[in-house]
Amino acid sequence: MQYQDVVELAKRRGIFWPSFEIYNGLSGFYDYGPIGSLIKDNIISVWKHIFIDLEHMAPIDSPNINPQEVLDASGHTKVFTDYITYCERCGEAYRADELIKKKLPDYEFTSYDDMVKKIEHLGIRCEKCGGPLTKPEKFNLMLSTKIGPGKGKLSYLRPETAQGIFINFPPYLRYFREKLPFGVVQVGKGFRNEISPRQSLLRLREFNMAEAEVFFDPENIVWNGFFNDMMSLRVRLLTNRGEDVEITLGEAMERGIIKQQPIAYFIGLTYRFLKNIGMDTGRIRFRQHHPEELAHYSKDCWDCEVETSNGWIEVTGIADRNQYDIRQHIEHSGADLYFLKKLNIPRKIKVKRYRALDTKFKEIFGKDWEKAKRYLESLDVNIKNPVFQGKLIPEDAYSVVEIEEEEEFSKEIAWVIEPSFGIDRIILSLLEHSLYAREGTGYKVLKLKPHISPFKVAVLPLMSKDGLDDEAMRIERMLREENFTVYYDESGSIGKRYARADEIGVPYCITVDYQTLKDGTVTLRERDSTSQERIRKEDLPDRLRRLINRCITTI
Ligand code: GLY
Repeated sequence: MQYQDVVELAKRRGIFWPSFEIYNGLSGFYDYGPIGSLIKDNIISVWKHIFIDLEHMAPIDSPNINPQEVLDASGHTKVFTDYITYCERCGEAYRADELIKKKLPDYEFTSYDDMVKKIEHLGIRCEKCGGPLTKPEKFNLMLSTKIGPGKGKLSYLRPETAQGIFINFPPYLRYFREKLPFGVVQVGKGFRNEISPRQSLLRLREFNMAEAEVFFDPENIVWNGFFNDMMSLRVRLLTNRGEDVEITLGEAMERGIIKQQPIAYFIGLTYRFLKNIGMDTGRIRFRQHHPEELAHYSKDCWDCEVETSNGWIEVTGIADRNQYDIRQHIEHSGADLYFLKKLNIPRKIKVKRYRALDTKFKEIFGKDWEKAKRYLESLDVNIKNPVFQGKLIPEDAYSVVEIEEEEEFSKEIAWVIEPSFGIDRIILSLLEHSLYAREGTGYKVLKLKPHISPFKVAVLPLMSKDGLDDEAMRIERMLREENFTVYYDESGSIGKRYARADEIGVPYCITVDYQTLKDGTVTLRERDSTSQERIRKEDLPDRLRRLINRCITTI
């Protein structure tokens, strides 16, 4: 089905809708309703299961607001921009590359001059009034705010969750016992002042992200995971040299199409995540960025794109952020964001050390003079006016000498690969891939996998009388207590109720009828096949759990 069908269903059934509608709305903001919120949580649960439980990454939850210093260091205040052009007549604003893309769908930005030429050659004018357009200029995409009273402190709503991870590298290094590689994940909101938000969840100004920053030793870029197993996975790759190939990740590495092992690994993991939640794998590809397209922090990037009625949509980016972010934060903050790397061959270095004068130390510290000497000689010479047991050690009791020492560790900056997922786009594409019209009736069915469905089961009394409703409510209660999310519906014909459950993706319906009152059995109906069987009500929890778990565990 098409995008419009999804949007119609989403609004009618409470999946998502434009925010602030009672005040005429605000472009680029959407609410998830009762059904959409549950679907979103289920997708995020799968993501967390893969990245945290299976890949052993550690979660973080850092603030949405970042002070200016963080984003100065990351480069976002300077270069996180899109090109904007205004109508000279009516003032309407446009994203310049979007205008070109409408006429040349394959257009990718290569240079400012080329962009200006294309706008001229294609005769692009204001879409509203036909007026001429201004020369494109850079427009920063961050939303700013002020923190605290008075003038306040200039801060920004974070444009990505990633910076909260980079600046917390030291506590995570400690958490992982000083050993690389390790990954840190954050699921949360990102904010961008998009010039032209569009297509509901496709381009939002406030959006849901799930990001992993995976830290490596730059000279040993290996992500262990289930690497060998992943290399036999076949995926479609579009390289920035124009190749479009369907090959295994192992072949892609051998042929040098993918240069870095972790990039190959996370391409595979992204594919498996999307497959697990039910994306149509025939409409998934990975496209390598052209050098001009790369974000300012990135050396290489592969976008995972899925095909929809809006074309190929980027849902995930797998970027080689190299040492950029950590280096920037070291330079701007002065903080020690290094890791210690054990050297194969210890190297000789010259260092300055305090040397105690024994006679003086004996005089000052008596029986503790050796302890005091050990303490002083272990100190960094940058620590001035050393004190031991509350006594200042006088300057004539020591000297500073330069000696040769063997260094076993060197300070290094970790390398980063970042898989970054746009949750809203994933939801939108998944809904489009899942929605179909039932043959014969034309009713819409959302074929969400059971673990993604907002409700695992619907309980429907055949009639809301003769005690059928009471029995149905007892079964509903029993299933809720067994931890199933349950949809209860007793209004309208049973056919209508099946249809209502089908279009929000409920995979199983239980109907309570007159036979239930006699022998304790109910009908269990499967959504896609519509096949029905009779089952004892007490067998429902185990049976449903088996049906649902089958989907959760296969990644
Ligand atoms: N962190 C990746 C992005 O902002 O797109």
